[in-house]
Amino acid sequence: MTYIAQQPKEQIIEDYARYVNPGRVEVYRQMGVDFVPGRREGVWLWDVDGSRRLLNCRTSGGVFNLGHRPPRVVEAVKRALDELDVGDHMLMSEMRAVLAKRLAELTPGDIQYTTFSPGGAEAIDVAIKLARGYTRRPKVISVRKGYHGHTGFALAAGEDVFRSKFGPMPPGFLKVPFGDADALERVVDEETAAVIIETIPATAGILIPPDDYFPRVRALCDRAGAVLILDEVQAGLGRTGRMWAIEEWGVVPDVLVIGKGLSGGVYPMSATCHRPHLDRFFQENPFIHLSSFGGAALGCVASLAMLDQITEPGFLEHVRAMGKRFAAGFADLKARHPIVAEVRQRGLMIGFELCDDRLGPLMTMALGANGVLAVFADFRPSTIQIMPPLIIQPDEVDYVLSALDRSCEMLSQMDLDALPELLLPLTL
Ligand SMILES: Cc1ncc(COP(=O)(O)O)c(C=O)c1O
Repeated sequence: MTYIAQQPKEQIIEDYARYVNPGRVEVYRQMGVDFVPGRREGVWLWDVDGSRRLLNCRTSGGVFNLGHRPPRVVEAVKRALDELDVGDHMLMSEMRAVLAKRLAELTPGDIQYTTFSPGGAEAIDVAIKLARGYTRRPKVISVRKGYHGHTGFALAAGEDVFRSKFGPMPPGFLKVPFGDADALERVVDEETAAVIIETIPATAGILIPPDDYFPRVRALCDRAGAVLILDEVQAGLGRTGRMWAIEEWGVVPDVLVIGKGLSGGVYPMSATCHRPHLDRFFQENPFIHLSSFGGAALGCVASLAMLDQITEPGFLEHVRAMGKRFAAGFADLKARHPIVAEVRQRGLMIGFELCDDRLGPLMTMALGANGVLAVFADFRPSTIQIMPPLIIQPDEVDYVLSALDRSCEMLSQMDLDALPELLLPLTL
């Protein structure tokens, strides 16, 4: 029995359009994208008809940090299926306790408690509930072009493009530019419940803040008694070559939100980890937040296997080494292709910046033609997000670099002004 390619590809696309989302199929058709993921293994993703494969540098924003179907995680979940299920979220849970303890050991500073959810946005909602519930204040400050997901409070903390159709939003949310501590200083006050920031904003184009930014953000929150929430749904869990991206700036947030790669891409899991003082809120009513599937036992098993792998000696060194190999290749590409503007990079979290917004979508398509899946940043289409699996090997890095080289060559020969109006950036 196989689950892949039970029907011809045309039938899958037709059924997807008829029963799931015709609008998306139309957008893909206009872009010339007919790729339907079938077989998946390690860094590779095959078209369902087996006709071609792509090296996955999108990884769904880090979901596939360990590549597709990482053997260790898959084995652990297979074994667990003989004994466990999702569990009853109202009762105590051995697996949740084990995983939360492991996260307490791994997260920065004195972060101790974890609330589990099935997805990143829900985990952000929990963080904001916690901050408002603990402080009893209304104001939540986020950064422009940040992205925290599409549920209630996460959506409210995000950009208008995703919010405007669903107003009115909960009151009290406002935004300042990323990396600008002075702007933050002007709005953080005694009414502020939380400041919420992606440590390295991904959808904004992989932005790296000035060195003093996070220490100043921490100090501002401390002064006002506001809760500092860092969203490391993409940047955490080894992506930057450190366990947590924020380690670079030596700051401990009050709440750290983790998702995506947490369970090796085989089970939906996310986590809201918080420092002890905030727990006063949950102690007042330990049942104030419930989620049937948050912290499912099978997901905890997957997460523990994933954490075992990324904490093995040499794992983060490998991420840094592959990051360096990419960096050397980027320097060469930048020297040879004027369309490359700059590269912003921490480990394997990479923003490959082109000199024109219109080039991002074109580069995504060119890379697809050259065997690589990598997508432009939604809020900064001139940036290609390059987020390969952390297990990528040197020859695979070289494969991506040569695909970038060929794609730059193709794009350099295009007359952008002669092209018909390009598709607007879209969320993939
Ligand atoms: C930084 C960040 N936070 C939160 C989320 C929301 O996660 P999810 O899609 O699992 O709800 C995302 C999703 O892309 C993200 O990139």
